[in-house]
Amino acid sequence: MCGIVGIVGTQPVAGRLVDALKRLEYRGYDSAGVATIHEGALDRRRAEGKLFNLERRLADEPLAGNIGIAHTRWATHGVPNETNAHPHFVDGVAVVHNGIIENFSEIRDELLADGASFKSQTDTEVVAQLLAKYTREGLGHRDAMLKMLRRVTGAYALVVMFKDDPDTLMGALSGPPLAVGYGKGEMFIGSDAIALSPFTNEITYLVDGDCVVINRKGAEIMDHNGNRVERPRQITQAAAFLVDKGNHRHFMEKEIHEQPEVISHALSHYIDFTSGTVKVDTAIDFSAVRSLAISACGTAYLAGLTGKYWFERYARLPVEIDVASEFRYREMPLSPDQAALFISQSGETADTLASLRYCKAEGLKIGAVVNVKESTIARESDAVFPILAGPEIGVASTKAFTCQLAVLAALSIAAGRERGTISAAEETALVKALMEMPRIMTRVLNSIQPQIESLSRDLSRYKDVLYLGRGTSYPLALEGALKLKEISYIHAEGYAAGELKHGPIALIDENMPVIVIAPHDRFFEKTVSNMQEVAARGGKIIFITDEKGAAASKLPTMATIVLPMVEEIISPMIYALPIQMIAYYTAVFMGTDVDQPRNLAKSVTVE
Ligand code: G6P
Repeated sequence: MCGIVGIVGTQPVAGRLVDALKRLEYRGYDSAGVATIHEGALDRRRAEGKLFNLERRLADEPLAGNIGIAHTRWATHGVPNETNAHPHFVDGVAVVHNGIIENFSEIRDELLADGASFKSQTDTEVVAQLLAKYTREGLGHRDAMLKMLRRVTGAYALVVMFKDDPDTLMGALSGPPLAVGYGKGEMFIGSDAIALSPFTNEITYLVDGDCVVINRKGAEIMDHNGNRVERPRQITQAAAFLVDKGNHRHFMEKEIHEQPEVISHALSHYIDFTSGTVKVDTAIDFSAVRSLAISACGTAYLAGLTGKYWFERYARLPVEIDVASEFRYREMPLSPDQAALFISQSGETADTLASLRYCKAEGLKIGAVVNVKESTIARESDAVFPILAGPEIGVASTKAFTCQLAVLAALSIAAGRERGTISAAEETALVKALMEMPRIMTRVLNSIQPQIESLSRDLSRYKDVLYLGRGTSYPLALEGALKLKEISYIHAEGYAAGELKHGPIALIDENMPVIVIAPHDRFFEKTVSNMQEVAARGGKIIFITDEKGAAASKLPTMATIVLPMVEEIISPMIYALPIQMIAYYTAVFMGTDVDQPRNLAKSVTVE
């Protein structure tokens, strides 16, 4: 994820900005840049790749100036090159941004029609363009900023600098974090306390909807209407930590909210946004493969189980899938005309690695869907498909799960294209659905939280919970149950909805809430019939569906969570959000150690 830092100082800032960026490297990035104001002029250095490239640029052509902003970019819109690197300049306005401006293409079209010319492919540039336009129209910087904030939608942390005001930086946020740091005669702003830790340990975390103006004397915080708000200052221990929770209570909460951004970043590596096609560079020739074996553990296994539905449906490729601890000992007959896919956040899980080595010995082509690109599983594979989720700290996997799903969806479309089982028009439609996902995720995260919090308070009083789903909602039912039990310690089971009557129905009574995951898709009617069986036995239903589904079912529920109507291919990623939030808030009410639940480990390197 992008990293931001800014200084209004009394000494030259360029070197210090780069030092702060180094502390944000953990977030992942593919280009970087720094801008300062010196003697009335705005100037910048930017470079593709690692920070030493930027340092080299700065060594060749130093930047003077006691005020500046800097950025590490993690590409979402536009390839990671120097032109797309931040800060973006338009007519004396400099902007750095973390997140996604969702209505950027609408604003861009409007500005283009107005005669503006764009230099980059980024969504960020519309922010600089709007600010330049509003100041040209006569607004002061502060009013231009507030007007721009009312115009853009999406997830953003922004820091802005105006050439004709070398004493002030402005910031704003809605989603990604931003913190203000207090120094002696100097002020700082950055993505987290870690970035600011070389300068100060006295910080204020801003909250969503805040806009801040900082100068050498201090910070003024206001809402988007310009009304003053107060936020507490705190002393941080950030220097001691590798990553920071920001304003969130737990890493898990932070990672849930990062999903729109990380998915967008992951998709930018697997989708050509201009042609609307998938771009997957792989050593595996899917057209020559007879079948696919998938193996993984825990949540990664459930991502794989969802992938099975997609590979079979879109690429007509038969998939064998098993948890790695079983797969490795099954003595499954394999042959070199098959390929194998291993899914692992850490890339180090012992059983998954052993399954990989078994398949390799049988002569199969090996693909790895991993978060840690340097991991053993990645190194031992023929093709590596990074999920690009950034570091995941919470033991219970959230953003890695949805990024694994996004990558598997893209891979299955690529396989379908190679195997001639989907048409160009179908590919375009599927890719369009994937591209809409980050925007829908932001909407869902913002809208369902209060309802899920109150539902979770109720759920925390129960001892058992059942999850049901059909099609790709079935692996999600398993994931919902896994998430809930691992962090809240409430016993939970996931079942294929059609299996209800083959056993679990015996458990249904008023003490067993049943969470039914049912978008209004081709399975909806069948799942509703299963829901009826629950209702008839006094079971309490929590219904996770969409607008059509909510209108179609008349059954009484304990809660109905209504999500937007979405294309079938993205429903697992969208429906994962309420599933994760139910587990998270229930665990918070139970008072458990959410990020490090008892007995569990993030990376399981033993059998
Ligand atoms: C552990 C973690 C899970 C994870 C599983 C597989 O059990 O607690 O969150 O899904 O391992 O880990 P991997 O790194 O291979 O995805």
